[in-house]
Amino acid sequence: MNTSPPRGTRDFFPEDMRLQSWLLGHFRESARIFGFEEYDTPVVESEELYVRKQGEEIVDQLYTFEDKSGRRLALRPEMTPSLARLVIQRGSAIALPLKWFSIPQCWRYERMSRGRRREHYQWNVDIFGVEGPAAEIELIAVLTTFFGRVGIASEDVIIRVSSRRILEAVLADAGVSEELYVPVCLLVDKLEKIPREEVESQVRELGIDPEIVGRIIDVVSLDSLEAVASEVDEERAGIADVRELFALAKSYGVADWLRFDPSLVRGLAYYTGLVFEAFDRGGDLRAICGGGRYDRLLSNFGGKDIPACGFGFGDAVIVELLKDKQLIPDPAPDHVDDVVFAFSEELRSHAMAVAARLRAGGRAVDLVLERGKRMKWAFRHADNVGAARLMLLAPDEWERGAVRVCDLESGQEKEVALDAIT
Ligand code: HAM
Repeated sequence: MNTSPPRGTRDFFPEDMRLQSWLLGHFRESARIFGFEEYDTPVVESEELYVRKQGEEIVDQLYTFEDKSGRRLALRPEMTPSLARLVIQRGSAIALPLKWFSIPQCWRYERMSRGRRREHYQWNVDIFGVEGPAAEIELIAVLTTFFGRVGIASEDVIIRVSSRRILEAVLADAGVSEELYVPVCLLVDKLEKIPREEVESQVRELGIDPEIVGRIIDVVSLDSLEAVASEVDEERAGIADVRELFALAKSYGVADWLRFDPSLVRGLAYYTGLVFEAFDRGGDLRAICGGGRYDRLLSNFGGKDIPACGFGFGDAVIVELLKDKQLIPDPAPDHVDDVVFAFSEELRSHAMAVAARLRAGGRAVDLVLERGKRMKWAFRHADNVGAARLMLLAPDEWERGAVRVCDLESGQEKEVALDAIT
């Protein structure tokens, strides 16, 4: 039998899980200190939740299947549609603003590359019920807080920011019909991956005049907000939101992390306003995380629209970056506080009682279960599991109602009366 997991998926051995828990712990804690609450949904959803008309990559990458009752189901490729489902389910009973986070495992049948796999855990942080960039800057502050906690600075990572409304304004100005807005966004998103000529030719295939196609690409290639502002209808292009975001970034002390980049549109259909995506400044890796505003998603699912924004942050690219920067923490095990070892079979039941007493006091205790082990082995074992103390039950001490306690850091040993053990 082949013991490897399916291609693109991972096993988490305990040593891998230690790193994973460390990372997810920082995700969770960064959201918590900003007042976000955790939620979750099933990894399996109805396929129809992901059926969308525009040609998004994520839809082509769906893992789908039929259950035994003939229902069409899919493994979630992202969390946002499930979150929308929850918000609609609660209806008007939902308390706004809502600040929720989650760390779902997501599945996409993706071409494998460094930092891209077929399953990943994706930290999602979303706000519903807040209009305007006060919400987006809060999300960006959550992000930079997380980066700071794991040792990443603004010299390492850049968060590119733009607004989809810029493209919307360029198209409206040129008299291009509204239906073409999302398909154009999805094509412009490919500018980073495929040559400009190819993108231009695909946009032309939508039936857009070559001159307008050239203008679209020219505007998104500009490198300052003011240059863009002078080319478009400011109001329609939502330039005020971008300006406000950058002003708020100064107040939050996060301006060093941000760069305006009108070519950023993001590859998902539902964004309607500000969008942002973080990359390593070295340019070696894929996007670290990304998000934006999606004020009209709920009506796509038959609900009443509520302003919303959020981001998704995978567990893969960040680990590659942490490896490159040698910021992966020491993976030494530390899951056990005390090892309890009985010298002889007769003392085993007493060892259980000692272990139970310690556990009741909140200590993590590994009771040696194997028979016939020697003291040397017990010391080595305690060292291997990273224990702070080894508790030895030996006949002489036990007769005096005591246990020998070895402090593994200092190497000191002392006899402690049974009822004084904590
Ligand atoms: P997304 O850009 O598709 O957005 O994914 C967000 C992040 O998830 C990426 O930047 C990356 O860190 C991670 N990611 C995505 N696909 C993979 C993969 N195949 N392997 C490893 N990591 C991956 C969304 O999913 C939006 N739903 C995010 C969002 C939440 N927008 C608003 N709220």
